[in-house]
Amino acid sequence: MSRVDFSKIATKYEDYSLVQKSVADTLLELLEIGNSDDVLDLGCGVGNLTREIREITKGTIIGIDPSEGMIREAIEKGRGLDSITFEIKAAEEMDYKDCFDVIFCNSSFQWFREPQEAVENCYTALRKGGRIGIQAPGKRVYSPNFIEAVEKAKEYPRTKGIFTHFKEPWFFLETADEYRGLFEKYRFRIVLSKIGSIRTKHTPEEVFNIFSSGAVAGYLSQDFYDVEINTDYTDSFKEIVKDAFVQQANNHGEMELIFNRIFLVAVKE
Ligand SMILES: C[S@@+](CC[C@H](N)C(=O)[O-])C[C@H]1O[C@@H](n2cnc3c(N)ncnc32)[C@H](O)[C@@H]1O
Repeated sequence: MSRVDFSKIATKYEDYSLVQKSVADTLLELLEIGNSDDVLDLGCGVGNLTREIREITKGTIIGIDPSEGMIREAIEKGRGLDSITFEIKAAEEMDYKDCFDVIFCNSSFQWFREPQEAVENCYTALRKGGRIGIQAPGKRVYSPNFIEAVEKAKEYPRTKGIFTHFKEPWFFLETADEYRGLFEKYRFRIVLSKIGSIRTKHTPEEVFNIFSSGAVAGYLSQDFYDVEINTDYTDSFKEIVKDAFVQQANNHGEMELIFNRIFLVAVKE
């Protein structure tokens, strides 16, 4: 049986959402990883959170990600650390069975091509009593600031022709109940499913950096266009988005960034 008191989780979510806490830290604390838990970091990126998990548990830790570059970096950065295994693998390709107490999945779920298959694989990978925690952008308008900025690229002659060929790669559901339903379909018991509107204050430059560290990998990847994109297009697109963030700032050069995020914790019983 899990040692986590799940009834506390919803209350905790409220507490955490009141403070300016990083969303990854919130997810980590909601999961209450025990000191001998075996953990899968699903969509681990460069492994910075995987290394944080290493400080919490002495159990086995595996980080997987389909991006070769991310895994290369994760292995490089994790050198010398005790027993973290990093593998190039997508959620849809997992074939683990009953071997993890916790699956930690931060800011990756929106990228899954086959989310249903991924959820089913997660259920199989967990031991009985094991739990999964997801934190990801939720709702099609996952950030009104980003959407408003990106919409400008539909107006400008330098970008509008090509941008109409962009096909969104992300998976978003509109309500916490829809996320709940997806996990319940694969027999999970839901402990928490909530979409929070997280508001943080930044300069437009900081917001552009946040945009560049995630969303841009979708908007400016050739994979998601059926016409060729060139540097003239990508440079113009970035300039337009950057200017749009400056327009969104107040007189003090500050803007409020709104991000809708799903937090979901579920248990395999
Ligand atoms: C924004 S990064 C998040 C990385 C890390 N979890 C973090 O919070 O810092 C999203 C990651 O999801 C990975 N990803 C994309 N598709 C995936 C899939 N089908 N299965 C697992 N991970 C995937 C990407 O390669 C990328 O490294």
